[in-house]
Parts: sequence; C-alpha cells; structure tokens
Amino acid sequence: MKIVSVVGARPQFVKLAPIHKAALAAGVEHVIVHTGQHYDPMLSDVFFEDLGIGAPDVHLGVGSGSHGVQTGSMLAALDAVFDEHRPDWVLVYGDTNSTVAAALSAVKMHIPVAHLEAGLRSFNRRMPEEHNRVMTDHAADLLLAPTQVAVEHLSDEGLAARTVLVGDVMTDVLLEVRDEVGARPSPLLDELDLVPGEYYVATIHRAENTDDPERLAEVATALGGLDKPVVLLAHPRVVAKAAAHGIALTQGALIAHAPLAYPELIAAALSSAGVVTDSGGLQKEAFLLGIPCTTVRTETEWVETVELGWNVLANTASEITAAVTRPRPADTGDAPYGDGHAAERVIAELIRAAGETSGT
Ligand code: UD1
Repeated sequence: MKIVSVVGARPQFVKLAPIHKAALAAGVEHVIVHTGQHYDPMLSDVFFEDLGIGAPDVHLGVGSGSHGVQTGSMLAALDAVFDEHRPDWVLVYGDTNSTVAAALSAVKMHIPVAHLEAGLRSFNRRMPEEHNRVMTDHAADLLLAPTQVAVEHLSDEGLAARTVLVGDVMTDVLLEVRDEVGARPSPLLDELDLVPGEYYVATIHRAENTDDPERLAEVATALGGLDKPVVLLAHPRVVAKAAAHGIALTQGALIAHAPLAYPELIAAALSSAGVVTDSGGLQKEAFLLGIPCTTVRTETEWVETVELGWNVLANTASEITAAVTRPRPADTGDAPYGDGHAAERVIAELIRAAGETSGT
C-alpha cells in the first residue's frame, strides 16, 4: 500500500510526524510531498528535523503568492507527482491552500483522497481556511474527523457515510513532546530574563488580524498593555505587515521574537501564565498542557476548549485584556481530543478502506 502525503505549511508538518511514524510501523510506503508554501527554515526545515520526519521526498518549491496563484501553481505541479506515484491514497492535512490544491488535483485524477482533520468549521466565510476546509471535505473520499463535533458538522452536510472519527493527531505529538521537554526549562527564560509563570506566549498571523493596519495596531497595543511580559513569536506575515505599516511589535509589555521550533514552543508555553493566539493548533496545545488560552478571534473551530473553560474568545482590546487576566479555570478531566493514538487509527483506516475499494 502506498500513501502520498501532501503538506506545505507549519501546522501540517506537526500533523505529518505521527502519521509518518505510524505508516512506517505498519509497513506502508509513505511518500512526502512538500508544496513549498512555507519555505523559511524556522517554519519548515526545523520541524522535519526535530520531529524525526527526515526530508520530504518531493519539494515543489511553490512559495508565496496570492491565493489563486499559490493554489493554482500547486495544483499544476501536483498532477505530475500523482501521475508518477499513482498511490492508493493521497492524504491531505488541515485547511491550507496546500490542502485544497492536493485534494482537487487527486480527485480529478481519480485517486482516492483522505482528509485528515475533516469537519472543522468556523462558519466564517471570510476566512480562507474555511473555504479550504469545506471544499476539501466535499472533494474527499474519506473524512478523518478529530472530534465528535467535527463528525456532526460532516453529518449536517450530508457526508456521514464517508466519515470516521479517529481522534486528533496533534494530541499524539503534543503528549510525546510534552514528556520530553517537561523536565527542562524553556531557553526563552534565560534569553529574555523571564520568570516561570510570569509571562505570556503570543502568536498572531491570521489575515483577519494582520492585513488591516488598524486591526493589527489594536492587537499590538492590547498585548503591549498587559500586566506581564508578552513574547510574540512573530510569523513572517505579521512582521511584514507591521513593517509595511510602521506598527511596533515590541512596545510596552510586548516583545517580538522569532518563531520557535516545536519543542521550544511547547516548553515556552508550558511554563507561561497563558497563551494568546489566533492559531488553531496552539489553542488545543494550551488546553492539553493545562495553560489558559485567549483566542484573538470571534469564533473557533476547537469549541471544546471554550466549553471546558480553558479558552476565551476575545476580539477587542478590552476583551483581550479581560480574558488574559481572568482567573485560572478548574480542571474537569475531560479529554475531547483523543488518547494520543490517532495516527495509528488513521493508518489502520486507510489500509482497511483501500482493501474495500480494491475488492480484497
Ligand atoms: C498559512 C495557512 C494558515 C495556517 C498558517 C500557519 C492558508 C490560506 N493559510 O497561513 O491556515 O494557519 O499557514 O502558519 O494556507 N511567508 C514567509 N515565509 C514563509 C511563509 C510565508 O515569509 O516561509 C510570508 C509571505 O510573505 C507570505 C505570507 O507570509 O505571503 C503568508 O504566507 P501564506 O502561506 O500565504 O499564509 P500563512 O499566513 O502562513
């Protein structure tokens, strides 16, 4: 059996790590295609190195561009790759332009497509990620859902017959890395002279928060006014937008810092007082680490983190301040994101379903 995984952006490299491990353990041939959507070493290479993935087998080198140019270039380049490999499955991850390009290319070539992290919805049609999710789910043959809520969304859209609940593969990685880094202090503490439990970790990169200068200035000012140092692990997108509009990312309590490798990010979050983010993955990672999270958005796909009290949505400056400084929630012991073995279930399901379609 042969699987081609297509990845391109930072969170996809994290999801790829446990899948690659489980594929190798099951004796499955696993070809990794990197679209090149993320090309900075700190957003890309470091993840392959630290998470034991090795190097991608194919690198398309597509790089940045408008949504249409970026997605279209990937689509054109992927046709040739899929034609050469003719896999049993193309596996696509999450909600980026790389996801929708790979799903569309594969489905048009009649190659079965499986979507990992299927069924997430923000119901915000202004988000590029929301278009990507909906289109990918409807194009794919097998929908690998991380949570019961995701299963229900797919069922509401008439996709129940193609859906399997597998759990969340980011939990697999997080639990492993947490145990590795738990014992050693974050290098950020020394570097920035921070005291454990007396700083916040922030990431902001979504178009909704970065592309409008007034909005970006509002978020930066709110973070700069917080009661403890705020380390902003600045994605290239936020750095570029801030520079273009003359907005300071180091102001008041706010300290801009380069993005961190995955184990260093987890170590930094683990000894922080809280996380402030618009990333999807980090909301869940904070929850799994038992660190309060404030999400700088008006909605989230990971509704369980909010329902269980660990995550608060905050959009305006005053909402951000109130949410970040709220009292710590109580631990309810709920585990909505699975048991850390989702990747094994994914590979087992791909093997089973491939057998079904080939009639074995
Ligand atoms: C993408 C995903 C988003 C995901 C995020 C994780 C889409 C539509 N969005 O957003 O869902 O949460 O990745 O980080 O696919 N850039 C660099 N170096 C890089 C990559 C990007 O400088 O290695 C800059 C470029 O100026 C680029 C901008 O960042 O135009 C945005 O990159 P892009 O890949 O379009 O989207 P992200 O904001 O990273």
